[in-house]
Amino acid sequence: SEPLRLGIAGLGTVGIGVVKIVRQHAALLAARTGREIVISAISARDKSKDRGVSLSGYSWENDPVSLATRADVDVFVELIGGDEGPAKNAVEAALAAGKEVVTANKALLAIHGQALAETAEAHDRALRYEAAVAGGIPVIKSLTEGLAGNDITRVMGVMNGSCNYILTRMETAGLSYQEVFAEADGLGYLEADPQLDVGGIDAAHKLAILASLAFGTRVDFDGITLEGIDRVSIEDIRAAADMGYKIKLLGVAQKTGRGLEQRMQPCLVPDSSPLGQLEGGTNMVVLEGDAVGQIVLRGPGAGEGPTASAVMADVCDIAKGMRTPVFGIPSAQLTGSTPARTQLP
Ligand code: NAP
Ligand code: HSE
Repeated sequence: SEPLRLGIAGLGTVGIGVVKIVRQHAALLAARTGREIVISAISARDKSKDRGVSLSGYSWENDPVSLATRADVDVFVELIGGDEGPAKNAVEAALAAGKEVVTANKALLAIHGQALAETAEAHDRALRYEAAVAGGIPVIKSLTEGLAGNDITRVMGVMNGSCNYILTRMETAGLSYQEVFAEADGLGYLEADPQLDVGGIDAAHKLAILASLAFGTRVDFDGITLEGIDRVSIEDIRAAADMGYKIKLLGVAQKTGRGLEQRMQPCLVPDSSPLGQLEGGTNMVVLEGDAVGQIVLRGPGAGEGPTASAVMADVCDIAKGMRTPVFGIPSAQLTGSTPARTQLP
């Protein structure tokens, strides 16, 4: 069969990770999917930047929209980021041009995912986004395929590694929020706009995507009750510890009698529970279904290798001819929020 030709826009942490996997695992990927996977063209802001790998074999486009619509691109891989601007323009252009799309962009999906998914369906093209939620953890696949036989009753978890790092470090080193924030920023752990992390917004983007998939509802970022970790003090952490608890930025989406409840807030979790034991930048997602009961997925939520691993899972599924997991059913939007008691794993 014909090779599957990628156009990769964004050659930062994730984009370069994808280039490396396509190169290093060419034979493995071809054997697994039955198709050779190749890179036709690439795009980033600065063509002259040294990215640690040779990119001379690939055509260069300055404009991601031009890349997305090239005749020699079958799959547009969007790894630029941001919910507006070049990422959104290029994804829309790619779908309109009949390309399959893979993205890691949770902000774009949480805000415009519903419309993009409808465009993808209208063109009978894939819009896949395994890397957008919990980095290297195959949570989208688990939810949409592994648990396909279940009525999903709840999804929850710790979905922002930076916040978990800050909370863990405050607790283990006894440092203030401000001290650990400065440390995390210095280590490059935080988004360019740190408020996306510490304000809980990035984690809420991820929860909105998962909730839509789990419950067949429209993506409803604005419906999330949201509170970040920026007001958690060292005194709060000490008081929680005295009672046998840890504080985690926990997302919960569940069905209630009055509709879908979505919350992303600092929560007390028992010290000895799997969530309580989750340290550093690791993510944990808990999925509950009527048949399976509860499953717990744990792993790296960010970084070059883990995130590129998830991007490549989507690319391989497209190579195998699989369609997109779709965001919910437009007419089935649920509203309302009922404070419900949450049983933690
Ligand atoms: P990054 O390191 O900041 O890289 C962004 C890339 O986009 C850079 O190569 C940049 O070009 C390019 N870019 C920016 N504006 C552009 C434009 N107008 N035209 C063309 N290229 C442009 O970002 P990242 O960490 O790889 O993240 C990429 C995406 O993955 C984001 O949506 C992010 O939320 C998501 N994600 C990241 C992680 C992670 O661990 N990093 C995890 C999960 C999801 P230059 O290099 O030339 O500046
Ligand atoms: N800022 C995000 C985090 C990156 O800390 O989890 C991965 O989505």
